[in-house]
Amino acid sequence: LNRAIMAESSKQLNSTKKGPESILKTLHHLFSVAIQTACPDITDPPIDIALSGANIKFGDYQCNSSMPLANRYKQLGKKVIPKDLSNKIIANVPPHPLISKFEVAGPGFINIFLNKDYVIQSLSSIIEEGVKPPVLEKKMKVLIDFSAPNIAKEMHVGHLRSTIIGDSIARLLEYLGYDVLRINHLGDWGTQFGMLIAHLQDKFPDYLLKSPPISDLQAFYKESKKRFDEDEEFKKKAYASVVKLQSFDPDHVKAWELICDVSRQNFQKIYDRLDIKIIERGESFYQTRMEKIVKELSANGYLEDDEGRKVMWGDSGSIPLTVVKSDGGFTYDTSDMAAIKQRLEEEKADWIIYVTDAGQATHFQIIFACAKKVGILNPQIHRVDHVGFGVVLGEDKKKFKTRSGDTIRLLDLLDEGLKRSLETLQEKQRDKVLTPEELKNAQESVAYGCIKYADLSHNRNHEYVFSFDKMLEDKGNTAVYLLYAYTRIKSIAKNANLTPDKIKNLAKTHKVSLEHEKEWKLGKVLIRFPDVLLKIVEDLCMHHLCEYVYEIATTFSEFYDSCYCIEKDSSGDVVKINEGRILLTEAAALTMERCFDILGLKPISKM
Ligand code: ARG
Repeated sequence: LNRAIMAESSKQLNSTKKGPESILKTLHHLFSVAIQTACPDITDPPIDIALSGANIKFGDYQCNSSMPLANRYKQLGKKVIPKDLSNKIIANVPPHPLISKFEVAGPGFINIFLNKDYVIQSLSSIIEEGVKPPVLEKKMKVLIDFSAPNIAKEMHVGHLRSTIIGDSIARLLEYLGYDVLRINHLGDWGTQFGMLIAHLQDKFPDYLLKSPPISDLQAFYKESKKRFDEDEEFKKKAYASVVKLQSFDPDHVKAWELICDVSRQNFQKIYDRLDIKIIERGESFYQTRMEKIVKELSANGYLEDDEGRKVMWGDSGSIPLTVVKSDGGFTYDTSDMAAIKQRLEEEKADWIIYVTDAGQATHFQIIFACAKKVGILNPQIHRVDHVGFGVVLGEDKKKFKTRSGDTIRLLDLLDEGLKRSLETLQEKQRDKVLTPEELKNAQESVAYGCIKYADLSHNRNHEYVFSFDKMLEDKGNTAVYLLYAYTRIKSIAKNANLTPDKIKNLAKTHKVSLEHEKEWKLGKVLIRFPDVLLKIVEDLCMHHLCEYVYEIATTFSEFYDSCYCIEKDSSGDVVKINEGRILLTEAAALTMERCFDILGLKPISKM
């Protein structure tokens, strides 16, 4: 009996530990076994597995390897007909519960038909155990460097993009089970602090006793810059202040902290509103490490003198890093060299992701090349990515600015979003249906959701046009459409008085229905979730997930148009419930919730 219990519990453990299977990976594995057996004389054969098109006649997935394989045989001087090859491959695919049958079509395509029972089983486990992530091959420690605005300067739309994209990548990798460290590499160091501190000391001589009232750091920055450019005496004082700060003179450190705090509070307001968690570790953190690495680089002969500057070349280098300026100061390059060393060696990260505008791509290429050259970065064990993104444009397709040509303040932008989202909800008369609290929740969810989603749903490599009108549309691939679609899906079961718990119980006694063509179509979309996530782990492009969640919503609406879930009589009473379809509906809602969570959207039950 004991053994039976142990076996049972270990079975349970396994089933909860195991995540859903990646369909593409499974098929890839099965066909690579079959192709290697069928074509033993071809080394490293092409394994081409793809999703089939809309026509279900051609199966659900297909293997298109036979044509390139026949070409490889031709190169070896053997004539092989792709169709024959396909039949041979099919005969060698190991049996697997995922597959029901194959068909060879056209010149030699192999159409793969999935097994309904397998899909039913996958969907039931979503309902019973939740939407589980696919199992990781290796749990890695990932450091994500994102947001990173600069002290005393306005946090601009570029930083907003970095914040939104970085947070979403972090959410994805956390969900997948990586050990994620979210780092804010604040621009809180450097020569500009010399003039800021010098100006602070002149303007508020008692700053050590009384906090100076500098709420408008922009203006303060401009004032000090003006003095710096016009007044030689002040300039000297500013230079002296930098030196004192960098040697950690207590009064200068205090002044620096006062200035940083003003910016920090403003940044935090944005993070709070957008629900962003991030650990601050600005450039200042690396001061002593910069001193150390410069000594090491110099001792090992990596630094070259260039008109008083000390530079370092990467291997392919078009331009070198400036490691030490001619006045002896450090630069952005120096801090990134110290940072990559700290991250790989002290933090023991396996993977670092830097999220900044595409304009910094070369900077990071050179940093990676130099880190490799000196043995900090080992491509065999480390992964590094620069996740670049295009500029944000205004509706006039020019750089996003206010009417007067100033940088747009992010808090103003978020406020505008709130205002516009409330107007959209009022146009739909939602204020008549929702309680004030529900309305406020909907307003915030729509405002912040649409700003995030508009950004994430565009291929990050392209520039994108910021338009509240576009992002608040309730048609097309927008947050508004998706949030509405989700509440509508949730309301189906609610109308039948089925709570999520009751539906979970239903899954024990009823099968998910996949008989109707539209049910089958939806079911197949839902089981693709692990594949979508794994693709993003490769290219770090979040728009794949947006396209996927949009596909769920549109496929659901096709299904719902042709398949009733609940039947009501003329007086509106529920007379019949199709349990199998309610289960399918629930699997769709749960998968959408997961997507929203990764994208940082907050779905609401009523809107
Ligand atoms: N502060 C920089 C900027 O505003 C971004 C820093 C990105 N991170 C890094 N390790 N360089 O452009």
